[in-house]
Amino acid sequence: MINRVLSGIRATGRLHLGNYLGAVKGMLELQDNPDYETLYMVADVHTITTPYQVEELRKNRREVILDYLAAGLDPEKSIIFQQSEVNEHLELAFYFSSVATVAKMQHLPTYKDKVKQHPDHVTLALLNYPALMAADILIYKASLVPVGIDQEPHLEVAREIARRFNQDYGTDFPEPKRFATKGEYVPSLTGTGKMSKSVEGSYINLTDSLDEIKGKIAKIPTDGGQGTDIVGGVKNLFEFVELFEGKEKRDAYETQYKGEGVRYGDIKRELAEAIFEELAPIQEKRKQLEANPEFVNKVIEEGAFKARNLARETIDEVRFKMGLK
Ligand code: TRP
Repeated sequence: MINRVLSGIRATGRLHLGNYLGAVKGMLELQDNPDYETLYMVADVHTITTPYQVEELRKNRREVILDYLAAGLDPEKSIIFQQSEVNEHLELAFYFSSVATVAKMQHLPTYKDKVKQHPDHVTLALLNYPALMAADILIYKASLVPVGIDQEPHLEVAREIARRFNQDYGTDFPEPKRFATKGEYVPSLTGTGKMSKSVEGSYINLTDSLDEIKGKIAKIPTDGGQGTDIVGGVKNLFEFVELFEGKEKRDAYETQYKGEGVRYGDIKRELAEAIFEELAPIQEKRKQLEANPEFVNKVIEEGAFKARNLARETIDEVRFKMGLK
């Protein structure tokens, strides 16, 4: 049995550091492991489960592909595609919704968050979000999913659906597990919560310049530089130091904080430079890709073709086993 990997990111805009560390880094690691067949998509259909602008979506479903390629996803090694190009995901999601209860879906923390954010847009599509995500994964019978820790409840739903389907219809869906990366939880620059596209001032984009990064890092709330407890913005700042400059550096700063005190100006400048150093080659690659739209078109077209062929096999099997053929 081949080990398949699937992951996706919603098409809400350019990728930020949270996406990069929490998901893309894991995608890269698995892409380079010959034991796995990797499929990476832009979850453009998931994007319509909350209010959106049509022209923004049209642009972003391509932007994410560019960010993927710039970050190192390689069409020679991975199937890179747009979810909406493979109708079979939607079909399977509908079949899956027949074993997912409304009560269970309403109970998910991600659902509750979105209901709070958009109280006037509580739709069936939003409620069905986890069934579509389960379909994304299981249509390829993928067993490993590189995503951030916030997606764990969705994976739990995918496992439940897989079990139910296998029981009821004799399918052989695997129970997919999350593949965790070191940066699975990337804190917000605001000092509370996680880095998120929907929270202004919380994120650094992969395309930010050194000056932009410096400006954003400078805004992380800090204190007098000395104390016994490391909390809030200071804690987040030190998390970033660990992610980009290593654990030793973080430990050193923490000891200093509890002793003679730290100087945030220096820490923040060094951190901004370390982040930019990691992003510079990605930005360089992105410029080359922007200058070569034919190549990007070809990646998108071939990705859809390959994904569709795999997806059809599962759909045929499911239709037959469900009595629809
Ligand atoms: N829900 C994921 C997120 O918000 C995006 C996503 C959609 C996804 N389908 C997926 C992730 C399938 C992994 C696998 O980040």
